[in-house]
Amino acid sequence: MAQAVTVNPRVLEMEYAVRGPIPQRAAEMEREGRRTIPCNIGNPQALGQRPITFYRQVLGLLEDPAGAGRGGVPAEVAETARFMLEASRTGTGAYTESAGFRFVREAVARFIDRRDGVEGGSGVPSDPDLILLTDGASGGVNYLLDALITGPDDGVLVPIPQYPLYSATIARCGGTLVPFYPDEDAGWNLRREHLVEPLEDARSRGITVKAVVAINPGNPTGAILDDESIREIIAVAREWELCIVADEVYQENTYGRPWSSFAKILGREDVPLFSLHSVSKGFYGECGHRGGYMEIRNPPAVEGTGLSLADILLKQASVNLCPNTVGQFLVYLMVSGPPAGTPSFALFETERRAVLGDLEAKADMIKGYFGQMEGLRCFGETGAMYLFPRLERLPEGTGDFEYCMALLEETGLVTVNGAGFGQAPGTHHLRIAFLPPFDLIREVMPRWVEFHNRHVG
Ligand SMILES: Cc1ncc(COP(=O)(O)O)c(C=O)c1O
Repeated sequence: MAQAVTVNPRVLEMEYAVRGPIPQRAAEMEREGRRTIPCNIGNPQALGQRPITFYRQVLGLLEDPAGAGRGGVPAEVAETARFMLEASRTGTGAYTESAGFRFVREAVARFIDRRDGVEGGSGVPSDPDLILLTDGASGGVNYLLDALITGPDDGVLVPIPQYPLYSATIARCGGTLVPFYPDEDAGWNLRREHLVEPLEDARSRGITVKAVVAINPGNPTGAILDDESIREIIAVAREWELCIVADEVYQENTYGRPWSSFAKILGREDVPLFSLHSVSKGFYGECGHRGGYMEIRNPPAVEGTGLSLADILLKQASVNLCPNTVGQFLVYLMVSGPPAGTPSFALFETERRAVLGDLEAKADMIKGYFGQMEGLRCFGETGAMYLFPRLERLPEGTGDFEYCMALLEETGLVTVNGAGFGQAPGTHHLRIAFLPPFDLIREVMPRWVEFHNRHVG
């Protein structure tokens, strides 16, 4: 290297285990000609999941409007694309409003109202002016934490284990992550004291906690919060004047289990809420398209200005010009779907059910093999795309990192060790995304069972 530079130490400090040493070793193995199975990341289409036909047909016409004239696409596809192009006015190639296309934000607001039963007359309607379209949900998290964290005395209460976007972004912004520990043995649900004790401890150390993160369904745990846990978080946020960051990117991945949005449970309470959703997960798995939104409720005033926190987030979005247009169009499709009663709708429903049904069946299949592994236990309902079993028996002097590395070398399975997400002291875990095709699961799981019982034995 010819020259040396100094870099922001906070950027050096950031860690992102999902793409850390284990996947790096996997990449090396691939270069050596060995096969690996990437279960380290919730990236469904990388593991063979097919895109939803209607979404891709419409996207094709948005990029190539003349395609509709060449025939071969169902009328409702052409009609939807025509509507979207007209509503956007400028199509895919121009910058848009910094908050994103207005017609998409209006569709998002209608989706939220439908989802939360607001159209029936109860609840608080969503406001399109308080919705920001973003490049994936990650974009919204970055804006919010960048704005809220002014230095090491600003804290963010984060559930441990957590998705490392939060720890990495808090580190980059120079704030303090204040951990709280949901109760693993109680299905990762939480009680008031789980939140209040760390808040009191942080206060005694001079840290002002400004926000609490809730990931529901959870990553890496896959757990779904019950309404009581959501109410506790809202109550504590009100008492301690916290903003709630409700990461709900897995809201479609609940496999028939009850799930409530924070917005619905919040109702008319005046607590700041920032809810996130994304095109990356659900049954569509369009991670590469980088679409997402943040819905804001009760934005707090910003001290010393006539502005609200929502104004500040919009200002940040303005500096980035606009979220990518294809991601915005996909958000529209995610929240509206094909017109009911059309052939595209029938196909869409078949595809949706197949993807979600397969995901649940894969989770069950993997859990079935867990039952054959000594000292491995998995808690909580199945949600999101992950299982996060606890490793209760490991060889003396080793931890979950060594376990995952050895698992990779022996079976090609790429997982992430629990330490990459944080975990209660003294515990060991790993996270596996339940995304590989059935055949691959059937092939690799017996080898994992054999490896496990030998490794811990
Ligand atoms: C809990 C959670 N939040 C946010 C994200 C980021 O998603 P996006 O692709 O929308 O930026 C992920 C991605 O895996 C996630 O698991």
